Amino acid sequence: MASAAGSTAPAAVHQGVAPLRAGQGYSFLLRRLHSLSGIVPVGAFLFEHVLISNATAISGPAAYARQVQFLASLPLVPLLELFGIWLPIAFHALYGFYIWYRGDGNTIAYPWTGNWMYTAQRWTGGIAFAYILWHTWTMRFTGVDLHVHPEISFGKVQAEVLQPALFIFYVVGLIAASWHFAYGIWLFCAKWGIVSGEKARKRFLAVCLGFFFLLSGVGLASLATLRKYPQQPTEPGTAVMNNKQITEGR
Ligand code: HEM
Repeated sequence: MASAAGSTAPAAVHQGVAPLRAGQGYSFLLRRLHSLSGIVPVGAFLFEHVLISNATAISGPAAYARQVQFLASLPLVPLLELFGIWLPIAFHALYGFYIWYRGDGNTIAYPWTGNWMYTAQRWTGGIAFAYILWHTWTMRFTGVDLHVHPEISFGKVQAEVLQPALFIFYVVGLIAASWHFAYGIWLFCAKWGIVSGEKARKRFLAVCLGFFFLLSGVGLASLATLRKYPQQPTEPGTAVMNNKQITEGR
């Protein structure tokens, strides 16, 4: 006869982030790819975009123009953009929406952060997606092509950032993407077993929180600089600098 204790014992409760394991069905590979794509190349691109390229705006219109000119001069730009940015973001985002829709949790129980971290990862991804679509459409695919006319880069971004409603959208998009990436690094390291043990994970969470403040802080500083300057030229031919002068650093 089975003992009473044996029949009423609660099922073992798994705490924290579950590792990605083989044998979880056909989605294992896609989950791994989704997880990895959040770091490389999508996260790496966000790091470069906010902390390197856009941070040059803090040094003013000429420095910003030089950085855009440099990016435009890289070899095979359309292929780099397609395979290094657009396709990976599209995969990560669409599969992310699928994970959200399916309600697949990366946690079974949250011992100390609560479910809001799980929910925030989904909503910040969704907000970042809306922002990225709009930002890419207005900056890359419509209006003056900044790869051809880097001298008006500062002015083109300013024309949006100086409008109060769009400025708020920039701030919300920046903070959502920064949180999603920073907490995503923590999730990634937990899932892939890079950081294990409750104590180490707590400490690493503090590091990721610091990274969130760095990323959003530098982004906000760039936005503040764009709002500080008077509106710079937005049409080719009206800019004080031409391409040759940008290259020569004047
Ligand atoms: C700014 C661009 C983005 C970056 C840098 C980024 C980065 C990351 C990183 C590093 C992770 C952690 C990987 C992991 O869970 O192991 C992650 C997770 C996630 N991302 Fe993104 N992501 C971005 C955009 C998006 C978008 C647009 C969505 C669409 C909703 C999305 C949905 C998700 C979801 C649902 C997870 C959690 C997956 C899970 O719990 O298994 N992400 N992201």
